[in-house]
Amino acid sequence: MSASTFPDGFLWGGALAANQSEGAYLEGGKGLTTVDMIPHGPNRLPVKLGLEKRVALRNDEFYPSHQAIDFYHRYKEDIALMAEMGFTVFRTSIAWSRLYPNGDDAAPNPAGIAFYRDVFNECRKYGIEPLVTLCHFDVPMHLVTEYGSWRNRKMVDFFTRYARTCFEAFDGLVKYWLTFNEINILLHSPFSGAGLVFEAGENQDQVKYQAAHHELIASALATRIAHEVNPVNQVGCMLAGGNFYPWSCKPEDVWAALEKDRENLFFIDVQARGAYPSYSARVFREKGVHIDMLDGDAEILKNTVDFVSFSYYASRCASADMNEHNSSAANIVKSLTNPHIQRSEWGWGIDPLGLRITMNMMYDRYQKPLFLVENGLGARDDINVDGKIEDDYRISYLREHIRAMADAIADGVPVMGYTTWGCIDLVAASTGEMSKRYGFVYVDRDDHGNGTLARRKKKSFGWYRKVIASNGRDLD
Ligand code: BG6
Repeated sequence: MSASTFPDGFLWGGALAANQSEGAYLEGGKGLTTVDMIPHGPNRLPVKLGLEKRVALRNDEFYPSHQAIDFYHRYKEDIALMAEMGFTVFRTSIAWSRLYPNGDDAAPNPAGIAFYRDVFNECRKYGIEPLVTLCHFDVPMHLVTEYGSWRNRKMVDFFTRYARTCFEAFDGLVKYWLTFNEINILLHSPFSGAGLVFEAGENQDQVKYQAAHHELIASALATRIAHEVNPVNQVGCMLAGGNFYPWSCKPEDVWAALEKDRENLFFIDVQARGAYPSYSARVFREKGVHIDMLDGDAEILKNTVDFVSFSYYASRCASADMNEHNSSAANIVKSLTNPHIQRSEWGWGIDPLGLRITMNMMYDRYQKPLFLVENGLGARDDINVDGKIEDDYRISYLREHIRAMADAIADGVPVMGYTTWGCIDLVAASTGEMSKRYGFVYVDRDDHGNGTLARRKKKSFGWYRKVIASNGRDLD
């Protein structure tokens, strides 16, 4: 392997998302969104899973998204830091409820459009290409309470209107788009993933897969609209990635791993290949799921994406005997604990070779360019007596994963770019913590909302600048 395998024009950068960075949750005409209802603390998980209904904020809870890292007011400083590292791409998302505060409004909110035009212009000032996710774990709350979110077909119209507004309003500023962040997370974290709340006794699989169908239709239509508005637009799907390894070579374990992979890849199979995969009929039958489809849906789904993007934090592991008690979640998806790899402080596996395996599998399956849009190590950082943050553990994680990505490129996999997750520290999606940090830039804020929000460069900041300047040759 040689790190010089990265092609000219390879996009290097980092990623944030509106819901975990912007804050200003009711400023500029923004409406309440799903993430604004998800508290820090013991109630977080049941709300995220759609098991505990939240339609109003409570006085006795802390909501980390409300201020987050205040990117809304500090984006100029943050983008300048990205430019100093040499970013050529910055991934972020648009908060749907900044443009359509209720989701079903007749016209978009001009203040929301103005804010994102300013952000994207700021990127362009430094030659940074924005990579924009339309929906990253936030659905306007009015759409949840009034329509039941994605269980309702009307969401397709609301979403495509919003998507068209984005493509038209930001035409010439943005050309790389993602429709739904980690679309498969709808299955694993239904409220944070798709605004779904369950009623007692209903078939949750039915609700989830019908909602998935609506998202897949909306994604395909948005892809078509993006191309109509400007053929230069390139649209990607986005998978919470990481292959499942079989626990053993026992055929039953191998089959279990294949089934688990299909559960996640189902979404990308539709978005990248343009039709429901052949295995889905049997899976739906077993789960008692019947998808309501309209005439013309099969045609709509043929609007496939231009590229396949994905997050990769860890590989996963499955066996025929896997159950609630012997598995645990890493990036929300349940896995057995693989004894052959190390784990982060939060128990997520560390497996760079798993990235190479995942990338090869995905390119074999889809034959479309890949974009690794999230990767990184969530870790606690300490400020030493000299005021420095020596995050060698983060450098080491990223170095090994960049090497694995270079190996995949050498294997023949076309890769458009790499954006590390949480390039500036932000709120963790799973736990709502600030102490689970991913950034090259430290943000002074704790898990309870205390701190000045001041930014401070970590050791990894200078390291990543060298990586980018050398187009991935200098990883030392
Ligand atoms: C992905 C999401 O699931 O993983 C991000 O797209 C999230 O929104 C990231 O933040 C890391 O997870 P966590 O829980 O450590 O923030």
